Amino acid sequence: YEIYLNGLAGVLPELPMTFAGLEAGAEAALPPSVWSYVAGGAGNEHTQRANVSAFERWGLVPRMMVGAKERDLGVDLFGLTLPSPLFMAPVGVLGLCAQDGHGDLAAAQAAAGTGVPMVASTLSVDPMEQVAAEFGGTPGFFQLYTPTDRDLAASLVGRAEAAGFKGIVVTLDTWVTGWRPRDLAGSNFPQLRGHCLANYTSDPVFRARLKDSPESSPQAAVMEWVSVFGNPLTWDDLPWLRSLTDLPLILKGICHPEDARRARDGGVDGLYCSTHGGRQADGGLAALDMLPGVVEAAEGLPVLFDSGVRSGADVVKALALGATAVGVGRPYVYGAALGGAAGIVHVLRSLLAEADLLMAVDGYPTLADLRAEGALRHL
Ligand code: FNR
Repeated sequence: YEIYLNGLAGVLPELPMTFAGLEAGAEAALPPSVWSYVAGGAGNEHTQRANVSAFERWGLVPRMMVGAKERDLGVDLFGLTLPSPLFMAPVGVLGLCAQDGHGDLAAAQAAAGTGVPMVASTLSVDPMEQVAAEFGGTPGFFQLYTPTDRDLAASLVGRAEAAGFKGIVVTLDTWVTGWRPRDLAGSNFPQLRGHCLANYTSDPVFRARLKDSPESSPQAAVMEWVSVFGNPLTWDDLPWLRSLTDLPLILKGICHPEDARRARDGGVDGLYCSTHGGRQADGGLAALDMLPGVVEAAEGLPVLFDSGVRSGADVVKALALGATAVGVGRPYVYGAALGGAAGIVHVLRSLLAEADLLMAVDGYPTLADLRAEGALRHL
């Protein structure tokens, strides 16, 4: 309403109101190497496009005379009471996406301003303690790229606990980087990587190792001990991962129902269905199309979801398909590119306002109503 009323008064929003507008603005605002790193995906970007277009094949069936005057978008997640089911997905090198080079801090400030939690990437420009210090009262989660060095992994998780993060998200789908033609053509990654090592270079275990091998540069050491993104974990590693923390443990990249079952049996607290925004594997299914199978196999465990969410309507559809909470990646990154923390707040508030309005217009006042039989149809 604020935006409509301002519009009537001739005050137009400063930032774009559509994803296409945000995307175009971010392309103009970001250096080409950062832009192609953020916007690009694996292979010919089939999965990336499929993630988005999958939402067009689902539709909400409007209900009338419900009187959905008050909507409740609140969720309980891992014992936390959140005002909305939206969250910011982990984005490495996020710092460079804001004009001042501190996009991680901007996202954390946006979390504080909106109550929308951020999942902070291992590959942040500012160390996790500084990111967490900006969260205000909003809970945050730490995303772990599991280093090959187990002491370093334990240290990162211990620091996340000490910094007040409320859960550990272990990303499984990126122990090796996917085939990303835009990065390969522009050699973006080597340029960017030097800017996302703060969590390593500030780590006591990492620093001690570095001291013992003075011939190694921090970058070379990250390659050697951390394997850039992490190690190829197997299910045999799950008890060790579980033993690292009492915080809620969430596995990211779970798409197959059988993997969901194994994770659940291994004692995780949540599953995170995602195709990494189509950045890792090409030629795959859309994350949205795999969500119902994961939700069913989860048997009541919370299921976080991301990949392809571009609007409030998309948020609503993912919720209707059983996601407990819905994440966005590129949309808020583009907000950061255009306006730092204020730009991210604009994107998050727009998504939530659209979702809320849709639930009003279509007569689904609660998340439970959305999940009822017949609310959503596949086209
Ligand atoms: C990511 N993603 C990601 N995931 C993760 O677990 N750790 C990370 O460091 C990153 N880094 C990263 C960088 C950039 C530039 C993007 C766009 C994405 C994946 C991210 O968490 C999420 O799965 C996708 O972004 C969701 O898809 P959409 O919303 O971008 O379509």
